[in-house]
Amino acid sequence: METYNTLTLELSERILTITIARPEALNALNIELISELKSAFEAAYDNTEVGGIILTGSGEKAFAAGADIKEIAELSELNARKFAERGQSLFSAIENFEKPVIAAVNGYALGGGCELAMACHFRVASLSAQFGQPEVNLGLIPGYGGTQRLTKLIGKGRALELLMTGNAINAEEAKQIGLVNHVEENQDAMMALAIQLMSKILSNAPLAISMVVTSANAADSPDENGYLIEANSFASCCGTEDFREGTTAFLEKRKPEFSGK
Ligand code: CAA
Repeated sequence: METYNTLTLELSERILTITIARPEALNALNIELISELKSAFEAAYDNTEVGGIILTGSGEKAFAAGADIKEIAELSELNARKFAERGQSLFSAIENFEKPVIAAVNGYALGGGCELAMACHFRVASLSAQFGQPEVNLGLIPGYGGTQRLTKLIGKGRALELLMTGNAINAEEAKQIGLVNHVEENQDAMMALAIQLMSKILSNAPLAISMVVTSANAADSPDENGYLIEANSFASCCGTEDFREGTTAFLEKRKPEFSGK
């Protein structure tokens, strides 16, 4: 397993836990971290021992408190565009990642931190989680897809309220509006749930999981025909060994053993 300055990685039972490790800056996403996160996801894509990823933050205070404001403060207009595009490209790769990605959100998920959590396939949180897009307080708007994903996840009116006020919401509120799926009492319980959910996902056919992601993401894309993509993916599934195994196992009343082929 590779080592990074801003991340720690742990692989257990096919689940790769990537922990954002800049607790002294509330896990703020600096340029090095974005670059290392890209490398870690690329390596996880290639690593056949990795079935899925849980992304979380180190310490008890933050998942990530946003992009690093010290770096943002120095951006010129030209550099700022490149900065936003680099982050958007990584977050889009996470959203479309072929292996499942769960965000486990403890403490602050603000600005780029909230955007990163939203790029994951779904989110679980601890009671301490807080979500928000406070960029307007800095004279900015989100640059890592926040205006797009927040709007899709919680609806335009609610998203605009958060985006325009810069207010944060707590974990229970986030659950009520569909930003997170589950809220657990504390960080340990949150991680246990994330592992339990990931283990359940990994007991299913990997190719089917990746086609679920592609098809569900097509629902958000005006350039794609989601129904067509779903029908094509459904057909592709029927050509896989895992489909034969899954249906045969059901008829033989046994548990399937999926090979990912
Ligand atoms: N960037 C850089 N450093 C940050 C940071 C950030 N986003 N958030 C916190 N830190 C640093 C603080 O500067 C502080 O460092 P020092 O100890 O060296 O002073 C350390 O983390 C602890 O932070 P606080 O002392 O501020 O902790 P707190 O508990 O009093 O407050 C907080 C916590 C409310 C989250 C506050 O830190 C805060 O408001 N952070 C900024 C949140 C923010 O505005 N995020 C959006 C960034 S812009 C963005 O993300 C753009 C985009 O879409 C790509």
